[in-house]
Amino acid sequence: MHPEKKSVLDIQQAKEEGRKLVMVTAYDYPFGLMADEAGVDIVLVGDSLGMVVMGLEGTVAVTMEHMIHHIQAVVRGCKRPLVVGDMPFMSYNTSIRDAIINAGRLMKEGGCDVVKLEGGLDFAPTIAAIIKAGIPVQGHIGLTPQTASALGGFKMQGKDAGAAMRIIEDAKALEEAGVFSIILEAVPAPLGALVAEAVRVPVIGIGAGPDVDGQVLVTHDMIGLFEKFVPKFVKQYLQVRTNIIGAIKSYGDEVRAKAFPGPEHAFKMSEAALENLKEMVRKKA
Ligand code: KIV
Repeated sequence: MHPEKKSVLDIQQAKEEGRKLVMVTAYDYPFGLMADEAGVDIVLVGDSLGMVVMGLEGTVAVTMEHMIHHIQAVVRGCKRPLVVGDMPFMSYNTSIRDAIINAGRLMKEGGCDVVKLEGGLDFAPTIAAIIKAGIPVQGHIGLTPQTASALGGFKMQGKDAGAAMRIIEDAKALEEAGVFSIILEAVPAPLGALVAEAVRVPVIGIGAGPDVDGQVLVTHDMIGLFEKFVPKFVKQYLQVRTNIIGAIKSYGDEVRAKAFPGPEHAFKMSEAALENLKEMVRKKA
């Protein structure tokens, strides 16, 4: 193990020390490597891969096999960050036994350090059982994309006082169940602050304002690689898609104009070998 490998304890200590946590998503080896090199604390192999990598409309169709395949690739690139494997829809919803088996598969076959699953109070017994089986769990409340249709779409949650109070209660139930941290998605910034205050475990926000214990973004959103829709809470630090399209166009233009490949991209052959070859071709003809 790398001497600087992050543990669940390091993540919990960050809150005690007032150090903001940095978390991004990755779905393959090169992005795992880059996130590691950039010095993030946590890398999430999110089921957002359904949308940003597989071109699906949502996350519901993502399977255990998809997750294991992508977690394996990310883990090969991530030596230092804590790697979180996202539990796909229906891998933990059917029974506590299924949830433990599937969480175990993500760790044993995928190689991630911990798992994440969506849900608050209702999933506290499931989460407690997974943790009892020896697998650390990260919670995910507020907007929960796997059940977005039941929540009225990809919308901000906790708008009125009653709904906001239920989110605070969800956070407390997850803490009680033993999660090491909580993802809080798409809630008003003042509610983000209240949730972070209400629990001792780190609350990592995505669209939950600045007053939480850390931030997570989907990397493909943040670098402008996925632009089908860009949520309000995303800041684009790069326009990678535009640059990649430009590069592919330049390549196409050069191929058509016979400007690529140039001599510097071609393999050489000795004059003698070429003369011999030409002689052999003449004799065969
Ligand atoms: O799947 C994912 O990328 C996530 C983030 C939105 C936190 O759950």
